Amino acid sequence: MRVLVAYFSQSGNTEKIAKGIWEEASLTNEADLKKFEDVGTEDFAGYDFIFIGSPLHSANLAAPVKEFLTNINAGSSKKIAGFITHFAPAYPNQDMDQFTEPIQAVCKEKKIEYKGCFDCQGALTKSLHDAVQKKLNLSDDAWGNMVKQMTGSPKEEDVAKAKAFAREVLG
Ligand SMILES: Cc1cc2nc3c(=O)[nH]c(=O)nc-3n(C[C@H](O)[C@H](O)[C@H](O)COP(=O)(O)O)c2cc1C
Repeated sequence: MRVLVAYFSQSGNTEKIAKGIWEEASLTNEADLKKFEDVGTEDFAGYDFIFIGSPLHSANLAAPVKEFLTNINAGSSKKIAGFITHFAPAYPNQDMDQFTEPIQAVCKEKKIEYKGCFDCQGALTKSLHDAVQKKLNLSDDAWGNMVKQMTGSPKEEDVAKAKAFAREVLG
């Protein structure tokens, strides 16, 4: 099978998961790893399975990923799965469905099988800490706990879980 792992990542978290998924897919498939910035919409044609990765930005897929999805030419692609990183500790499953709605909509429109979404925590980049603490109106103590909790994510165990997800959906 020809597999594409396409991702957007600003501080490396989603990229770390993308690499894990690509490594796993490469074991038994011909797999490519590409940043969204480096792929054209036509490049999606010819892949049997596409993984689409994005950080969560204001409870949405990142703008470049959403924009790309509106122009996607999935060609002969038969299956798509998503993966998302977010700084908030844990989102219940039903919320992840909501975040991947743009991916699911494309799948429905183009008759591509949607294979689900992997998500894990990814530490918020330091330059945004003050702004987010203010926005969430958290005390220094509460924010300190949150920073402690997210630091180092995604962890190796998250990469291992992403690989297991890839193994499962690739079948
Ligand atoms: C502009 C912006 C908005 C964000 N909004 C959210 C959000 O709504 N919920 C959340 O949990 N994380 C949010 N985050 C945190 C990122 O999703 C998280 O740190 C992610 O792992 C970053 O991935 P990257 O390193 O691949 O860019 C936001 C980050 C940025 C830069």
